Amino acid sequence: MACKVSFFCILALFAYAFGGFVHPGLLHTQTDFNRMAQKVAANASPWIDSYKILEANWEASATYNPNPQSFVNRGSGCTPSNTMALLYDVAASYQLALRWKISGNNSYADAAVRIMNAWSPKLTGIGCQNGSSHDFLLMAGMQGYQWANAAEIMRNYSGWNTTAFNQFKTMMMNVFYPITTQYPRGLAEYANWELAMLAANLALGVLTDNQTIFDTAINYIQSGVGGQGPLAQSIYYVHPGNLGQGEEAGRDQGHNTLDVSHLTVIAQMAWNQGIDLYGYANNRILAFAEYTAKGNLLVPGSNSTYYTVPYIPMNVDAWPTEYWENVFANGSIGAGRPTWGCIYHHYVNVKGLAAPFTGKMLALQTPEGGGGNYGSNTGGYDQLGYETLTCTLDPISKGSAPSGLTAVLVGGSV
Ligand SMILES: *[C@@H]1O[C@H](CO)[C@@H](O)[C@H](O)[C@H]1NC(C)=O
Ligand SMILES: *[C@@H]1O[C@H](CO)[C@@H](O)[C@H](O)[C@H]1NC(C)=O
Ligand SMILES: *[C@@H]1O[C@H](CO)[C@@H](O)[C@H](O)[C@H]1NC(C)=O
Ligand SMILES: *[C@@H]1O[C@H](CO)[C@@H](O)[C@H](O)[C@H]1NC(C)=O
Ligand SMILES: *[C@@H]1O[C@H](CO)[C@@H](O)[C@H](O)[C@H]1NC(C)=O
Ligand SMILES: *[C@@H]1O[C@H](CO)[C@@H](O)[C@H](O)[C@H]1NC(C)=O
Ligand SMILES: *[C@@H]1O[C@H](CO)[C@@H](O)[C@H](O)[C@H]1NC(C)=O
Repeated sequence: MACKVSFFCILALFAYAFGGFVHPGLLHTQTDFNRMAQKVAANASPWIDSYKILEANWEASATYNPNPQSFVNRGSGCTPSNTMALLYDVAASYQLALRWKISGNNSYADAAVRIMNAWSPKLTGIGCQNGSSHDFLLMAGMQGYQWANAAEIMRNYSGWNTTAFNQFKTMMMNVFYPITTQYPRGLAEYANWELAMLAANLALGVLTDNQTIFDTAINYIQSGVGGQGPLAQSIYYVHPGNLGQGEEAGRDQGHNTLDVSHLTVIAQMAWNQGIDLYGYANNRILAFAEYTAKGNLLVPGSNSTYYTVPYIPMNVDAWPTEYWENVFANGSIGAGRPTWGCIYHHYVNVKGLAAPFTGKMLALQTPEGGGGNYGSNTGGYDQLGYETLTCTLDPISKGSAPSGLTAVLVGGSV
């Protein structure tokens, strides 16, 4: 596995070689939490600005009341319609966990644990009762990885005993995990489906210390076939100028940017376990972020003209029938999502690479909030957010050599 030389990386390699996982080791490591706490204590921008949004969020209140269900539906025609009960409680679990780690105030830890303990003995399934939608796959994926992240942060809290933690893991493995392994899904479903499921698999592998689950997901992301999740397919085509057209670029920009979020989550969690998916195939994920950011940015000085990005037509074998997507889609163009902080800071301030369009998009979203700050519908809970707080890094020292690059010879030149 590829790994940048650092104390943390050596730790990760060591843990990997001996079959153990780094904990906490999903989206954030202890090193990350130390930085967040230090920046917030110093009142330093932009971290503090994102933290203040967190403190003001109703989801992150110490008196948050969980609303556990025995079965959760998602999708049109599914009843009872109780999707948001789960989405709100998962976001609250994460935000409270974050607040505890940064402030050290146990009131937030107790509230996070209270939510997870309320659900774990009660939830027996998610799906679509009285209907036929399969949107619950998305919920199993997105809320699966999000909740695993909250639990990963809380896993060594003294107020969460082994019995309760185990009960939570059992619920995750019984209810979420089996749904998220239903890939490859063929080419009839857009990339965000499998990417959400894969993010959940990675997260659950780490949460439950199951190397088989983790490795299976990594292998599929790197070299799988038969679905839209593997990196060679979800980032469909890399144009000259290192602009990576995503599989949903011709669908709409709401979903295209959602794939940026999912791929960042996948790459970040893998990175924290010593596996460099960010560097995969010449930083293919960076190419995708740059392309997607550029296509969703207004040309400077204009109110309505977006940058043009290159596009190759795609035959989309999507439900209900096969069709062609011939242009970069303008549906939801300019869509804002709180999802640009981690990817930008990884490539620019960990790897020392340039990410100009990603940086411009990030500037528009900064400071990022999370669930509860972007509306009360499902879309506002597609990602955990707060990346300004969790992922902002001080600028890399000038002159550091970029890493992760490979030279490709074309016609005798690089
Ligand atoms: C839908 O299905 C569930 C269980 O299968 C049932 O309890 C419920 O009453 C049904 N109808 C509605 C309108 O929710
Ligand atoms: C911890 O958080 C609770 C809930 O917001 C608050 O009432 C309490 O004053 C906080 N404790 C400290 C030491 O800041
Ligand atoms: C939890 O783990 C972190 C990281 O290893 C450590 O800093 C912290 O002290 C631990 N907390 C408890 C309550 O054990
Ligand atoms: C563990 O925590 C749960 C939930 O707070 C509690 O009901 C249970 O009594 C605790 N068990 C032990 C052995 O402390
Ligand atoms: C890891 O997960 C796999 C797949 O679900 C399962 O078969 C295996 O028993 C698990 N391993 C452990 C040690 O729990
Ligand atoms: C942008 O739109 C605003 C309000 O609609 C208008 O006042 C302004 O002149 C526009 N600017 C440009 C460059 O078109
Ligand atoms: C959006 O795209 C459609 C389909 O390509 C096109 O017909 C329409 O003119 C575009 N709208 C704008 C505002 O560019």
